[in-house]
Amino acid sequence: MFETLPALAPDPILGLSAAFKQDTNPAKIDLGVGVYKDEDGNTPILKAVAKAQAILQETETSKVYITPQGVQGFIDGMLGLILGKASPVILENRVAAVQAPGGCGALRILAELLKRCNPDTKVWVSDPTWANHIPLIGNAGLELATYPYFDKSSASIKFDEMMECLAQVKKGDVVLLHGCCHNPTGADLTNEQWRAVAELANKVGFLPFIDVAYQGFGVGLEEDAYGIRLMVESVPEVIIAASCSKNFGLYRERVGLAALICNDSATRNIVQSQIQYVARGIYSMPPSYGGALVDIILANDDLNSLWQDEVTEMRERMIQLRALLVDNLAKQGASKDFGFINQQKGMFSFLCIKPEQVQKLRAESSVYFVDSSRVNIAGINTKNVETLAAAIAGVL
Ligand SMILES: Cc1ncc(COP(=O)(O)O)c(C=O)c1O
Repeated sequence: MFETLPALAPDPILGLSAAFKQDTNPAKIDLGVGVYKDEDGNTPILKAVAKAQAILQETETSKVYITPQGVQGFIDGMLGLILGKASPVILENRVAAVQAPGGCGALRILAELLKRCNPDTKVWVSDPTWANHIPLIGNAGLELATYPYFDKSSASIKFDEMMECLAQVKKGDVVLLHGCCHNPTGADLTNEQWRAVAELANKVGFLPFIDVAYQGFGVGLEEDAYGIRLMVESVPEVIIAASCSKNFGLYRERVGLAALICNDSATRNIVQSQIQYVARGIYSMPPSYGGALVDIILANDDLNSLWQDEVTEMRERMIQLRALLVDNLAKQGASKDFGFINQQKGMFSFLCIKPEQVQKLRAESSVYFVDSSRVNIAGINTKNVETLAAAIAGVL
C-alpha cells in the first residue's frame, strides 16, 4: 500500500533549521524559522505564561474532555482582544467561534467550513503569502489564486495592482488578508488602504478572511487590530483565524481561534453548529491547556498587564533590531539602500536580494534564511548584527 506514495522534499524552512543545527561554524546565524528570540538567542516562556501555569496547576481538578468549541473563557477573551470588548458584533451575538489547535488548525477548519458552504469557493491569497497557507487551504479542496501584493524591486506594496485584481474577483470569492505584520514581507496596509479594501469588499461582494498571527508585534495590540475591526464594522460577513503562538509564546501548545462574523444571530447559531461539527470530524476538540492559560492571562488584570508589557518588550526589541541592521548595513557600505526594513512591521522582512545571494550567504558565511530572502528579524542580536551586515554587504 505505502509504496504508492512518492517521497516529498523536506519543508524548506524546517530543512533549513536542520542544516543550521549541523553547521559547526561558531559564528552561524539563524534567521529562518519564525520564532521570537531574545538577545541570547533563546525563546523563553513568558513570565505571564509561567504565572498562569502555576495558577492552572493549583486550580485544574480534572482532565476530563472539554467541548468541541474549546475553553469558553479563551474564546471570549480572544474575541475581546481582537475585536474590542464592546464590539457590536459580540453584543449582537453575531460571532461563531471555536478554539483551534494553533492558527494552522483555525485556518484549516475555516477552509473546511467554506468548502461546506460552497465547494467551488475560490480563495485569493497575496503574492507572496505565508507558504503554509497553500496546503492549509488548498488541501481542504478549495481553489486558490493570487492577487499582486509586493514589489521586490521597490520593496513596497503594489496597492493599485492589488485593488485592480480584487475589483475583478467574483461575488462570493474569499480574499485572505494578513491582519498585521504580513508574513513573509513585513509590509502592511496603511489604515487608509484598509478602508479602501473594505469598501471594495462591499462593492464586489467578496468575503474577507483575515489571518492574524502577530497581534502586538507591529505597532501595538490595539493598533494592529485596526484592519480587522474596520472590516468587521463595515462588511457584514468576515472570517478570522488567530494564533497565540507568537504573542503569547505558546508555540508548542497549539493555541488558536477560528471566528466567523455572521449576518445575524440566527445564522451565527447555525454556523456555530457547523464549525463544531467540522472540528469534531477532524480532531474532536482542541487541546485545552494553552487555551486555559490564555484565558487566565486575559481575565486577570495583573497578568494581563504583565503580558502586555512583555508583548511591548518583544515588539520594541524587534523595532530596534531593524534600525540596528539598517545602520550596520550602511556602515558596511552596502551598495543597496535597506531603509525600507525600518518601515516594515513584525517579525519578518524581505531583504529583496536574489536567491543566489541568499545561497552564497549560507554557504560562505553560515547565515541561514529562505531563498525568498525573508529574514526573521528576532534572530538578529547586538552580538551578530555586525557580522551579519558585513556578510550581506559582501554578497550584493
Ligand atoms: C501568517 C501566519 N498565520 C498563521 C500562523 C499559524 O501559526 P500556529 O499554527 O503556529 O499558531 C503563522 C505561523 O507562523 C503565520 O505566520
